[in-house]
Amino acid sequence: MGLLVKNGEIITADSRFRADIYAEGETITQIGADLTVPPDTVVIDAAGKLVFPGFIDPHVHVYLPFMATFAKDTHETASIAALIGGTTTYIEMCCPSRFDDALKGYYLWKSKAEGNSACDYSFHMSVTRFGEETESQLREIVDDGINSFKIFLSYKNFFGVEDGEMYETLLLAKKLGVIVTAHCENAELVSRLQAGLLSEGKIGPEWHEPSRPESVEAEGTGRFATFLGNTGATGYVVHLSCVPALRAAMAAKSAGTKLYIESVLPHFLLDKTYAERKGVEGMKHVMSPPLRDARNHDALWNALRCGFVDTVGTDHCPFDIEQKLLGSDAFTQIPNGIPGIEERVNLLYTYGVNRGKLDIHRFVDAASTQAAKIFGMFPRKGTIAVGSDADLVIYDPNYRGIVTVETQHTDNDYSGFEGMPIEGRPSIVTVRGTIQVRDGRFVGQKGIGRQLKREPIHF
Ligand code: URP
Ligand code: ZN
Ligand code: ZN
Repeated sequence: MGLLVKNGEIITADSRFRADIYAEGETITQIGADLTVPPDTVVIDAAGKLVFPGFIDPHVHVYLPFMATFAKDTHETASIAALIGGTTTYIEMCCPSRFDDALKGYYLWKSKAEGNSACDYSFHMSVTRFGEETESQLREIVDDGINSFKIFLSYKNFFGVEDGEMYETLLLAKKLGVIVTAHCENAELVSRLQAGLLSEGKIGPEWHEPSRPESVEAEGTGRFATFLGNTGATGYVVHLSCVPALRAAMAAKSAGTKLYIESVLPHFLLDKTYAERKGVEGMKHVMSPPLRDARNHDALWNALRCGFVDTVGTDHCPFDIEQKLLGSDAFTQIPNGIPGIEERVNLLYTYGVNRGKLDIHRFVDAASTQAAKIFGMFPRKGTIAVGSDADLVIYDPNYRGIVTVETQHTDNDYSGFEGMPIEGRPSIVTVRGTIQVRDGRFVGQKGIGRQLKREPIHF
């Protein structure tokens, strides 16, 4: 059965126009006025609404064994939360640890997602150790449709790689046409600073940021960029949080290094005073890199506006209050992460577009189109065009509401953005032509999401 979206205003990364959209099955087949459609077509009246391409979150954690526990969501809960917030595709970090077999890890993550996600998805494959078996394993994973790797320069002795392993990963990625995403912090400095603070009895969440200061992130970012420059590989800094790291990344970009920058929702809207709150209130806001001094916000928004920051993800990573309390005696044991998959689009629209910090096309670009381009999904995803998947967000710019744990769909008992007003939300969300969401409710089919095949493009 076909789907017709009538009377809406279509907004993509580079155009804005009034037209109807017809999807035959999973694919957009016509865009225009007075379309001829079969009689049994499902019709959506989008008068007064904006019609965006489905949004893409390029950085989420769903299944994640980490810091002596597991992130809370399942692929069912995370994907439903994503869809209610307008995200129709996510890329999950597949993160076996240094002590796990990478290939077994990949198939484990795949098995967790398969048949359980309500929207489409893919994985960034983490390389947490580079050994004799790694090249053949990664080739198999790339052949299965993965065109991005992930490395961690932090989380020493768990996810973190040594510089030699980073070098090997980048050389292989260059050969395979794969982009390497990186968490950039200096692992050695983090562990020394953590030990120093704990030895002085500084155990609360307010010490998390001082244990991973901006300079530590800037060093990791600069080192990653230097390795990219010397291997010719293409890189992507994840969750960049502060001005010194931005400077390091921009210096490399402007010198010709093939480097993309992602910042994530918490770093635009929250600051380190949230983690300085007493007890578990502070713990709820512990993530890495940490929430920073608020003076970084203007620089990040401006870099996003100009396109220096290419994408906005979430680093969605829910741990509940009981899990956060694992760090009661030492901030180093607080599971790192803040959820956000459900809130990203509405908060970016409200505090970016509506506050005049972000042009509406750059909003679509940063929250959808760029991720599709960088990670090899464009134009199937990330735009509204004939031939693209019918992933559509019919957006109500007149909706007014508040982010609260009371109504969230993420499986967690708090929201990092509790109490923030939102101005706009998806009214209808479709995945390949199937209506999945109506006015904040999941009304669709669970488990229809597919793992996307992404071909290598970064040679
Ligand atoms: O605090 C964070 N970011 N948790 C998830 C793991 C990571 O570093 O992305
Ligand atoms: Zn990270
Ligand atoms: Zn992450």
